Amino acid sequence: MDRAHDRTSVNLDDVAALERGDPYGVRHVLAEFAAQCRVARGLRPEPRPQATTPRLVTVAAMGGSAASGDLLAACAAETLDVPVLVHRGYGLPPSARPDTLVIATSYSGDTAETISAAQAAIERRTPLVVVTAGGELARLAATRGVPQVTLPSGLMPRMALGYLFFPQVEILRAVELGVATETEVEESLDVVEALGKELGPERPVDLNPAKQLAQAIGGGLAVIYGGPTTAVSAYRWKTDIEENAKVLATAGVLPEMNHNEIEAWSAPGARRLHAVFLRDAGEPREIERRFAILRELIGDDAGGLSEMWARGRGRVSRLLSLAVLGQWVSYYLALLRRVDPWTVPRLDEFKRRMAAPGRDCH
Ligand code: PA5
Repeated sequence: MDRAHDRTSVNLDDVAALERGDPYGVRHVLAEFAAQCRVARGLRPEPRPQATTPRLVTVAAMGGSAASGDLLAACAAETLDVPVLVHRGYGLPPSARPDTLVIATSYSGDTAETISAAQAAIERRTPLVVVTAGGELARLAATRGVPQVTLPSGLMPRMALGYLFFPQVEILRAVELGVATETEVEESLDVVEALGKELGPERPVDLNPAKQLAQAIGGGLAVIYGGPTTAVSAYRWKTDIEENAKVLATAGVLPEMNHNEIEAWSAPGARRLHAVFLRDAGEPREIERRFAILRELIGDDAGGLSEMWARGRGRVSRLLSLAVLGQWVSYYLALLRRVDPWTVPRLDEFKRRMAAPGRDCH
């Protein structure tokens, strides 16, 4: 068993123990996610951006902020004939031209890659909107008169998914690119509200699928698989587990993994892996069959296998419900592993060293 994890020592139904293991109160942030989404719906850019419909949308972002772009792109894939790309890196790709809308999204506003993307957009005269809670990006936008959505501050970026995502839906709506109807957005808020009650610490293991899955994964490694719709959720689960629980996880997607990764399940190490299938009731029949066959082929090799289902009808609900479930699973995994789900010391140290002046590359 993983030495950082002693399953016998943390009882997920002992609310006092959960509070001791969570000094920054991540449980409150997660429980208030629906309220965060409701506030986020009312946030708009100032000054108002130009209303021309772009031919391409590029969301420039990293980490937890980029997750909001993935969600936007996944929703847009069902509704728009304008591509939404998520750019993770410095500068901008050559495809970003004056007929592109760039949304530079960084919760902290101090992410070097996203600042450089915003600067590139300004230099290329590409329409730009900034989504941030402050930092250098907010200063840059204010100085250059760039439309800016100012988010409430004080959260970890990955826990601000609602603040980051919903304003981008509105930014696209304002340029005639509707990724979700009002009804779909309303439905998603009801779904995440209900999930908040269902998955929180007060809800015992017997009735709480997030606690159950965290216990099932235990000291093993989570391998998260999504289908065409839920691939984006699988990646989000991986990064939430890595940042919150501080343990590696992997993410894959069907049908592609049927053509390569499936072979890795014959290795003896597969016993340490817990497969999680992220399912969607609307998935095509072929994908349903592929999940069923995958279960037959790897079920006996895996240390465990679980299925989690998206909730709701619209794509926003389906994807946000899986994101919320993944947040809670990673939260309980962190507590089982006795690590603080809030702080990310290595990530912070990396940023600190990158920002140190005069650092040479060897
Ligand atoms: O969730 C996190 O803390 C990270 O993944 C950050 O999102 C990432 O480092 C980028 O920072 P920001 O979202 O503030 O641009």
